[in-house]
Amino acid sequence: MSVVILIGFMGCGKTTLGRKLARALDYRFLDADDAIEAAEGMSIPEIFAQKGESHFRQLEHQFITGLRDRQNVVVSTGGGMPCFGNNMDLLNEAGTTIYLKRSVPELVHRLVHARKQRPLIAGKNRKELVDFISELLPVREKYYLQAAFVLERDAQTAETIRELIGGDL
Ligand code: S3P
Repeated sequence: MSVVILIGFMGCGKTTLGRKLARALDYRFLDADDAIEAAEGMSIPEIFAQKGESHFRQLEHQFITGLRDRQNVVVSTGGGMPCFGNNMDLLNEAGTTIYLKRSVPELVHRLVHARKQRPLIAGKNRKELVDFISELLPVREKYYLQAAFVLERDAQTAETIRELIGGDL
């Protein structure tokens, strides 16, 4: 199995760690949001505004089905990707899934200055952001916790993941 898939809430660090992990494994790196933006010729906020969230969710689903033929790749997913339809099952079939677990305060801290490019939180003040994450994280965790590996913050390093999944690759 040579597809590694990072999942978790917005702001948990999937893209940053994904790039490092790809380098450490000598794999290609694939960011789902970037791939969807490139395929649509639009930014994520534009897709949400012009075509709606449900269209974006369809694009995410198509992205997962396209993973089947991939090899030697680290994928960072959008925070909502595992949480719609049978996507989490498909992700588990497509590769080794890893949930990057973060607490609500950590996510708030990491997202408060990174709201603009994320349509689900773009218009929210700090208090609204805290409420939004507090409500949504437990709902989404039901999906995230179906990952093959669940990593607490201190284990979220490329080296730890490399050792952890060594036998699975
Ligand atoms: C979303 C997360 C975003 C992006 C879109 C929707 C979500 O990705 O896919 O804005 O539903 O949580 P990141 O997790 O990379 O921010």
